[in-house]
Amino acid sequence: MTQNLLSTNRYFDFNITNYCNAGCPTCKRYTIPDNSYEENVVKPFLQQNKIHMDFNDYKKILLFNEEFFMGKNAQFCGEFGDPFMHPKIEDFTLFSCDIFDLLKINTNAGFNRKKYLRNVAHLKNKLCIFFSIDGMTNKTNNVYRVGVNTDLAFENMLLWNDLGCKSRWDFIVFQHNMDDVEDVIDFAMKNEIFLILKINLRKSYRNILKITKDQYDQIRKVVKKKNYKNMQFQDYYE
Ligand SMILES: C[S@@+](CC[C@H](N)C(=O)[O-])C[C@H]1O[C@@H](n2cnc3c(N)ncnc32)[C@H](O)[C@@H]1O
Ligand code: SF4
Repeated sequence: MTQNLLSTNRYFDFNITNYCNAGCPTCKRYTIPDNSYEENVVKPFLQQNKIHMDFNDYKKILLFNEEFFMGKNAQFCGEFGDPFMHPKIEDFTLFSCDIFDLLKINTNAGFNRKKYLRNVAHLKNKLCIFFSIDGMTNKTNNVYRVGVNTDLAFENMLLWNDLGCKSRWDFIVFQHNMDDVEDVIDFAMKNEIFLILKINLRKSYRNILKITKDQYDQIRKVVKKKNYKNMQFQDYYE
């Protein structure tokens, strides 16, 4: 008997845009050459086919399969672009929350959409935004999050929290920002933000370096000392 994998899947990831306002060097949008002297560029298929998903097409996909999607969860993870670059992100959000139990959205957080945050705040039990901010200052955040306005990113994360919604802070630990970790935990504690400390698992490119096992152990000591309950700390993989 063939197992229907879709029938057991609870999460559906939709790539609603391949536009991005940032240039994170080891994002899957980039070629990431093995030879670090070679230039790292946005993959040609993304440069040649810049596209936002048509909102009416999305609606049709959900409505044609409404019974199937009801009671399940969706995510705009943004594998090849940032979901907040979609001009109709509000329509996508409202409609998705009508159909799905939960919608998760990942973003570099440097968006100019405070009105959006206020307009969708009533969905706080169905909408979960993950703010990817990888530094306490613009200097450290911009090493990986090239081009992101860090002040704006923090403003958005704090506004979402002030609106009584579920802010999740995705902080990826690299060699260049590991010294920020203590301040990051303090900031998350002070502002009651759920913190997810991730480890960069991608291959290193130029100054974007994965932490070593020893560095991971140092960070683990900091995490233990802080004893913040409202956080996750990802395991280290060689
Ligand atoms: C590719 S991003 C796209 C969404 C959004 N633009 C962002 O950056 O969060 C989706 C997820 O991948 C994660 N990510 C990006 N670069 C990563 C890296 N080098 N190592 C681990 N996770 C990474 C982000 O933190 C985010 O949770
Ligand atoms: S913000 Fe997200 S999608 Fe854009 S380049 Fe960075 S990791 Fe990739």
